[in-house]
Amino acid sequence: HKHLIDITEYSADDIMTVLETAVRFKEVNERRIKQVPTLKGVTVVNMFNEPSTRTRSSFEIAEKRLSANSLNFGGSSTSTVKGESLVDTVETLCAYKIDMIIVRDKHAGVPRKIADVSGAHVIDAGDGKHQHPTQALLDLYSIWEVKGDLAGLKVGVVGDIGHSRVCGSLIPALKIMGCEVTVIAPPTLLPARPDVLGADHVTTKLDEALPELDVVYMLRIQRERLEGAPYPSLREYNMLYGLTKEREPLMKPDALICHPGPINRGVELDSYMADHPKRSVILDQVYAGILTRMAEMYLLLGGSEDGLTA
Ligand code: CP
Repeated sequence: HKHLIDITEYSADDIMTVLETAVRFKEVNERRIKQVPTLKGVTVVNMFNEPSTRTRSSFEIAEKRLSANSLNFGGSSTSTVKGESLVDTVETLCAYKIDMIIVRDKHAGVPRKIADVSGAHVIDAGDGKHQHPTQALLDLYSIWEVKGDLAGLKVGVVGDIGHSRVCGSLIPALKIMGCEVTVIAPPTLLPARPDVLGADHVTTKLDEALPELDVVYMLRIQRERLEGAPYPSLREYNMLYGLTKEREPLMKPDALICHPGPINRGVELDSYMADHPKRSVILDQVYAGILTRMAEMYLLLGGSEDGLTA
C-alpha cells in the first residue's frame, strides 16, 4: 500500500502484518535507548487541522523513535487563514520533497484529496465523520495482545455510532478480522444507513447485549450533540448506556473494556470501569498507538522485516 486512508482497502493479512510489525517495535520501545535509525532521512509532515492529544503525540513520538525528521504544521498558524487553498498548501509542502503526510481534518475526504495531489504517502489521522484507520489498528492490536486470535471474538461497540469516525474504520476492521460485531446505541445515535457499517447485530439494549461480549468498546459521547437533543439527555444516557460499576456483574469475567479517548468520565464510563485493573485496556491502547503507528509508517515506506530495528 502507498497510503492508509480507508481500512477496507486492507486485507486480514495486511492488518496482521501491521500487528506483527508492531510487536517488533515493542522491543524497541522497551529498550533503554528507544530509538532506531530505521527512517533516518525521511521527512514526515504532521498536518493537524483539528485538536488531538493521543494521535498527534503518538505520531510525533513514533517519528522520533524511528529517527525521521518531523515538521509539525497545521491549523490557525498556517497561511490557510489568509485564504490559501488546501491544494496550494500541499503543493507547497511537496516542493520540499517530503515523504509522508499525516493528516487530521474536520472534513471527510481531505486525506484522499491530499493523496491525489501529492506524491507523498498519506496517513489519515481522522477525517470528519469518515474514518480513523490508525485508531482501528491500535484497537485491534490491544485486543489481539490480550485475547490472541481475533476471529470469532464478540465485540460490542456502544454509543454515538452515527457521528463517529472511529466506528467508520473500527467496525469494518473488526469484520475483516472475523469478529462478530454488535452495535449498541439509542436510536437517535444510529446512522441513517441500515447496514451500520457491516455490523452483525444492532440493538438499543445494552443490558441484554453485555453478557455475550468478549470486548466492550465504549465510544466517546459527543456531548455537543446530546445537549438539547430530544433523547437521550446526558443523565438518561448514563443510566441506559453508561458502563457503570452496577453493570459489571452482567459482563463475562474476562471481558475487556476499550475506549479511544478522550473519555467523558461519568457519562459513557464511570471511573471504576475506566480504571478497572483487570478489564480496562484504555492505556494499553494509548501505548499501542506508538507501536502500530511506527509499524504503519515503516511498512508504507517499503519496509520489510529485515533490518527492522537495526
Ligand atoms: N483517540 C483519538 O483520536 O484521540 P485524540 O483526538 O486525542 O487524538
